[in-house]
Amino acid sequence: MASKNQTLGEFIIENQSSFKYSSGELSRLINSIRLAAKVVNHEVNKAGLVDIIGAAGDTNIQGENQQKLDVYANEKFIQTLTNRNIVCGIASEEEENFITINSQDENHQNKYIVLIDPLDGSSNIDVNVSVGTIFSVYRRVTPVGTPVQLEDFLQKGSQQVAAGYIVYGTSTMLVYTTGDGVNGFTLNPAIGSYYLSHPNIKFPENGTIYSVNEGNYIHFPQGIKNYIKYCQKEEGNRPYTSRYIGSLVSDFHRNMIKGGIYMYPKSSKSSNGKLRLLYECNPMAFLAEQANGKASDGFTRIMDIEPTELHQRVPFICGSKNMVNKAEEFMFAAK
Ligand code: AHG
Ligand code: MN
Ligand code: MN
Repeated sequence: MASKNQTLGEFIIENQSSFKYSSGELSRLINSIRLAAKVVNHEVNKAGLVDIIGAAGDTNIQGENQQKLDVYANEKFIQTLTNRNIVCGIASEEEENFITINSQDENHQNKYIVLIDPLDGSSNIDVNVSVGTIFSVYRRVTPVGTPVQLEDFLQKGSQQVAAGYIVYGTSTMLVYTTGDGVNGFTLNPAIGSYYLSHPNIKFPENGTIYSVNEGNYIHFPQGIKNYIKYCQKEEGNRPYTSRYIGSLVSDFHRNMIKGGIYMYPKSSKSSNGKLRLLYECNPMAFLAEQANGKASDGFTRIMDIEPTELHQRVPFICGSKNMVNKAEEFMFAAK
């Protein structure tokens, strides 16, 4: 039974057997993400000191080049995942092509694929606002013993075996699912351990928060415009409150705890919206569904979309179930 003073390490061991492919590899994979997150957290926390210790592109006192934080986070996650001999391929927002991982003695024996947005909301770094990391995990579909192929990465979201995010906020949290609910762990920076602070998180079925970049309103499809007007109408528990951080992880996290809807629709400027299917929308959709919420592109379940390319974008509507259903109603009505 999950208890609140449990550490992430204890939780992983205790729940390992409930995972359908319980070989311990997935536990080791989550462990390596936990480790990389600690290292990235440490660096993100120092971001405000950039004028003092040097900005990206500068050379620091040890003669090392300072990196942009999203490049740094990318390297740390790739390094940590590569070292453990569990992952056979990684795709990242920061890499044009997927990375094949194979240590000499392993001969492509690893089974897991990881897709990652190493630093989400990176434009918020300069203004001391929360950022995050998003990850998505699959089992490979091509045979073990051969190099990974693009098709291993282009799997539907419904095939995910784990997904999660780290939010580097007022506290640092790791929130993840392996298909058996969503649990949130808060980092105690003094001792470097994560504690189960949010067991079995569920979206409230209804909420009163809507999150969308309303500056793009004029370019939105009619269905979204109509839904936004619905959110703003004085009736029942409306008008809703508008909250938009501009960091998907943080906006999602707040909405999951308080009840709300996040929207990044397509617009007349970007025909598929902005967010990436494989390492932003699918992992968030898996978490949302595991937390009793919903994720859609306006018409179709996100996790049913057949991916066609690594960096594919899709419109994204995600959050409390009844709110997403209502937004879909408006989308269909204006079709
Ligand atoms: P990233 O920093 O990984 O490029 O992602 C930024 C994304 C997402 O986190 C956020 O919700 C969205 O971009 C904000 O976009 P707008 O500034 O267009 O609203
Ligand atoms: Mn992102
Ligand atoms: Mn990013």
